Amino acid sequence: MDGHIVALPTETVYGLGADATNKEAVANVFKAKNRPSFDPLIVHVPTLKAVQEVAVLSKRAEQLFLAFSPGPLTVVLPKRKCIPDLVTSGHSTVAVRIPAHPIMLQVLQASGLYIAAPSANPFGFTSPTTAQHVLDQLGTAISGVVDGGPCTVGIESTIVDMSTDVPKVLRLGGMALEQLEQILGPVETQLSSSNPNAPGMLSSHYNPGATIELYPDREALVAAVSSNNDAIGVLYWGEPLPIANSFNLSPKCVDTEAASNLFMGLRELGKSKVTKIYAHLFPEKGLGRAINDRLQRAANK
Ligand code: TXA
Ligand code: MG
Repeated sequence: MDGHIVALPTETVYGLGADATNKEAVANVFKAKNRPSFDPLIVHVPTLKAVQEVAVLSKRAEQLFLAFSPGPLTVVLPKRKCIPDLVTSGHSTVAVRIPAHPIMLQVLQASGLYIAAPSANPFGFTSPTTAQHVLDQLGTAISGVVDGGPCTVGIESTIVDMSTDVPKVLRLGGMALEQLEQILGPVETQLSSSNPNAPGMLSSHYNPGATIELYPDREALVAAVSSNNDAIGVLYWGEPLPIANSFNLSPKCVDTEAASNLFMGLRELGKSKVTKIYAHLFPEKGLGRAINDRLQRAANK
């Protein structure tokens, strides 16, 4: 592939793909994103058989793949030699995922490649959920983007570390914790930015270009909007509010719908040149946890 990198659609967010075994291409991914080399990439594969080619699969991890893949789940496992250290930032583990997008699966199957792909955004910014988002932010730095339409899940995959005896959730994402726990039982979460196992989980991320204030309570949010004359954007859910520069994530408060609209909403409000965004946190269950995690990181400076 001559070291070329191409943005590809997945069901979660668009990825910036490189042949995982081509060090030049992988280096170009880090460069195009301005991503620090200590932040490892996820390797995308089409089948459970291919998971076993890149990683050492335990029985429990296999159960997870059988239950939830293809889908928005990434599993961290001991890596095999075919994956260069550059991809895993020198870690002895590799993060592997079987994505559920038909185009991405076709590319993986037809090329026979393992594709290393981080989200296709500059480091520290919001992940892209349409091909246009990719072009807006990385257009000049990449060889192209395959347009697979808007991403249906809309937030990144859930990452579970299965490389030790104790499973740990390293990132909340498109697969709800409740679903994982049906297979694993109660599972620990270790989401802090100081976690050396997921160095990319920085506490400040998803920068929309405006300050964000978080409100657990709708009434408090509405009161704050009415008492403020600044250029404010509002990200919320539930009954529509008659407020300019507002974006409703899900009028019926459905977590999957809100997740699929979240990054679009942050981008739209960011574009409207508001200086502050007031965001209504989602109920803390299902994908609400991952939505609130992204809002928290977007709010952190
Ligand atoms: O949904 C997704 O996961 C998207 C699509 C494109 O697949 N990809 C994505 O990649 O979100 P990225 O690079 O934006 O986030 C990958 C995360 C980072 O936080 C990184 O630190 C963590 O995965 N990660 C990668 N390899 C790891 C490893 N060996 N151990 C622990 N964490 C790892
Ligand atoms: Mg990312």
